Amino acid sequence: MTKRLRLADAPRLTKYGHMQFTPQLPDLSHPSGMASVSEIGAATEEALVHSASRLATPALVIQAAVVRRNISRLAEYAKRHGLLVRPHTKTHKSQMMARLQLEAGAVGLTVAKVGEAEQMRPTGDDLLMAYPAVDSARCERLAEIARNGTLRVAVDSRQAVDALATSACGANSLIGLLVEMDVGLGRTGVGTPEETLKLAQYISGIRGVRLDGILCYPGHIWAAADEQEPFLSTVSSRLRAAQALWSEHGLEAKIISGGSTPTAYQSHLVQGLTEIRPGTYIFNDMNTFRAGFCELSDCAAHIVCTVISDAVKDQVVIDAGTKTLTSDLCIPARESGHGFIMEYPEAKITRLSEEHGQVDVSLCTKRPKIGERLSIIPNHICPCVNLRDVFWWCEPDGAAVSVKINARGMLS
Ligand SMILES: Cc1ncc(COP(=O)(O)O)c(C=O)c1O
Repeated sequence: MTKRLRLADAPRLTKYGHMQFTPQLPDLSHPSGMASVSEIGAATEEALVHSASRLATPALVIQAAVVRRNISRLAEYAKRHGLLVRPHTKTHKSQMMARLQLEAGAVGLTVAKVGEAEQMRPTGDDLLMAYPAVDSARCERLAEIARNGTLRVAVDSRQAVDALATSACGANSLIGLLVEMDVGLGRTGVGTPEETLKLAQYISGIRGVRLDGILCYPGHIWAAADEQEPFLSTVSSRLRAAQALWSEHGLEAKIISGGSTPTAYQSHLVQGLTEIRPGTYIFNDMNTFRAGFCELSDCAAHIVCTVISDAVKDQVVIDAGTKTLTSDLCIPARESGHGFIMEYPEAKITRLSEEHGQVDVSLCTKRPKIGERLSIIPNHICPCVNLRDVFWWCEPDGAAVSVKINARGMLS
């Protein structure tokens, strides 16, 4: 039987600029229709409960109330604008978080990898892999997943279509395809509306796959929310041109999938979009905060670490290095260091080795002590989650439960 104990050493009251930050977050009521997370936690087989004194650092602590608020805020926005939400699970890689998103109205889940799809299948019967699959090893596993529910995959080449179709026919399943169009990132996706038409026509004549629509990812848009309109209008016109061409040729794009965290709340400016796929919004991080897409209090994921050395003048060392915080710099503020220490806003994490973080405390009025616990908001939360087996789900009353990160390390 599990017993719920208190996480007494949650981050203390601290100050960032004019903003007060407190770990005892307001008790936000559960949005209607959303199950209580402690119920879900208790139902999670791998859930373990530990006392605060046994919480080994570095630990990933997730503030439950902030997650609930982030999920319901996006759900309400999407509902208001007639958009469906298909959150990207690459951020949390957790069945429990996916369940919360689905209970708040998400239409299905997005994944990047087959391993993530396999892990998310028990939770979501409608999955989209927004990542190319071109080899038989990957496609055979996808075809198997498609036997137990809806599976769609984004494609930008005939090779991918052929590989998926062959595997689907072999497994007697059907895979829905979205033609990916590049809308400015220059990563994957065919370059023009005409090319989307060619690929769509190719797909519509092939057994084992079904043409479902168009996918785009506006990952290049990091402008402030109120300056995004011109960028999003370019995305709109490209999507509209593709859709018009498809319908001229008797093809229908039932799904037009787009969205990201930076553009999430401006998605209504993209005409024709049917669904959005933000991922980071569930936890947020210093990238989303410093770019102005959330408040510091919307950052749900904290790395709790311990000061392990103060031997060098004006410096302390924490037990979190690249194996915890990753090497990612903050996209909008590359000079800001390797994360934000909530209790010491003037401190700067200047250098990381694998298990050590060197912190310049020369500007701090008070110096952190050896053994003191610090809470860090990482620059980029998604790869940090992928480095851990569990996170600590912390309720506003301080109770914490350890939750397995189901798809961590599932990169194939
Ligand atoms: C194809 C695709 N869709 C959606 C997302 C989610 O975007 P964000 O990280 O801004 O939430 C990503 C992020 O990498 C992505 O690659």
